Amino acid sequence: MKKLWQKNYQVDAAVERFTVGRDRELDLLLAPYDVLGSLAHGTMLHEIGVLTDQEWLQLQAELRTLYQRIESGDFVLEEGVEDIHSEIELLLTRKIGDVGKKIHSGRSRNDQVLLDIKLLTRDRLQDIVDDAAELFHLLLGLSDTYQAILLPGYTHLQVAMPSSFGLWFAAYAESLLDDLIQLQAAYKIVNKNPLGSAAGYGSSLPLDRKLTTQLLGFDDLNYNVVYAQMGRGRMERVVAQSLTSFAETLGNMAADLTLYLSQNFDFVSFPDEITTGSSIMPHKKNPDVFEILRGRCNRLKALPNELMMIRANLPSGYHRDLQLTKESFLPALSELQQCLRILIHVLPHIRIREDILEDEKYKNLFTVDAVNRLVADGIPFREAYTIISKQIEEGVFQPPAATQHTHEGSMGNLCNERLQEIEKEIISGFPFEKIRSALDRLLGSSNTVNRNAKAT
Ligand code: ARG
Repeated sequence: MKKLWQKNYQVDAAVERFTVGRDRELDLLLAPYDVLGSLAHGTMLHEIGVLTDQEWLQLQAELRTLYQRIESGDFVLEEGVEDIHSEIELLLTRKIGDVGKKIHSGRSRNDQVLLDIKLLTRDRLQDIVDDAAELFHLLLGLSDTYQAILLPGYTHLQVAMPSSFGLWFAAYAESLLDDLIQLQAAYKIVNKNPLGSAAGYGSSLPLDRKLTTQLLGFDDLNYNVVYAQMGRGRMERVVAQSLTSFAETLGNMAADLTLYLSQNFDFVSFPDEITTGSSIMPHKKNPDVFEILRGRCNRLKALPNELMMIRANLPSGYHRDLQLTKESFLPALSELQQCLRILIHVLPHIRIREDILEDEKYKNLFTVDAVNRLVADGIPFREAYTIISKQIEEGVFQPPAATQHTHEGSMGNLCNERLQEIEKEIISGFPFEKIRSALDRLLGSSNTVNRNAKAT
């Protein structure tokens, strides 16, 4: 099929296959965003007089219809078409002739793809924020419910000090808050408009980049057109870095759970349906779900490195190498979401063993509390430490009857309400509402944005 850039020769078929790679499949994900970008670009071209009223009306109507078609799943990349940008231009031209050919004035596929990926990323990050917030609330709820139930705390995997399920659950909730802060920083980098940078050097047409910025609900623009293009792969790396932060939180929790589910620990359990069997050992109820979660999270942690290596030592300007970043970046966004969702799905089924500390081997958990009792009575810490060590050595140590931990963030004073306030503050810092109304306006009254639009 003819290319947007067709000259008087045909590209070798093997070269064509090799260079197009997985674009035809991955670009389908970009379809609704490519149309949104064209709506903004077209509005702007009309404002600056490149499109007549009549032309813009025709184009706008066509683009809105196309958006609806994509939403309804009735959209494919035709055989022989190399990418989404070509497909959409082809459809417009087929429908409305020369007017369709005008939409590409003052832009390039280079800034089109930059824009599409940013619009998609904004959407997916919003999904991740929603899921992370849901998991946060679930964890805090579990922390409140099991606040008073103790479990051993370990250092070096050796029995150390008393901990509680209140502490354990809320630890992961607080970890998600820091992950969200990092995601917010990444989001700010995503939420700048690259459109108008064209091939990476701007245009001699008097493009109104502030207008497209506002139409697409961006916070601001990537001003320097060379830098806008340099952002390809870099924005992806920054976002990937923030995804790894979540991956670390979820992976740690999965590691704890696999350990706690072992018969040697036996701190928690799940209903049989959550576990998986062995093909040879009839007694097995394995924690595969948490192992796959841990493995998928660890795999995600490799992503920033991969993205950084694809861009390594590239001179400024567009390079086709950058196309490859889509292959690992786009699937990673839904990969993290699936990890968040599975935890949200299984955690409510967790069963906590309430008598864990009754086992003799945990009595030394309270040696520091015993030392602190003496300290509270005025005995210098080092002396108190020696007294208790001696009792342990002689086998006469008796754990104190009840200990209280009262300072902020300890098991007797979790400060979960404060964590909840912080979560609200962070979430309110995302400009989701502003973006939604901007995109709704762009699509006109008969059409509203479906953030989860996927052409596949
Ligand atoms: N498929 C290309 C990519 O993802 C689109 C941009 C193509 N630009 C070009 N100058 N060949 O990078």
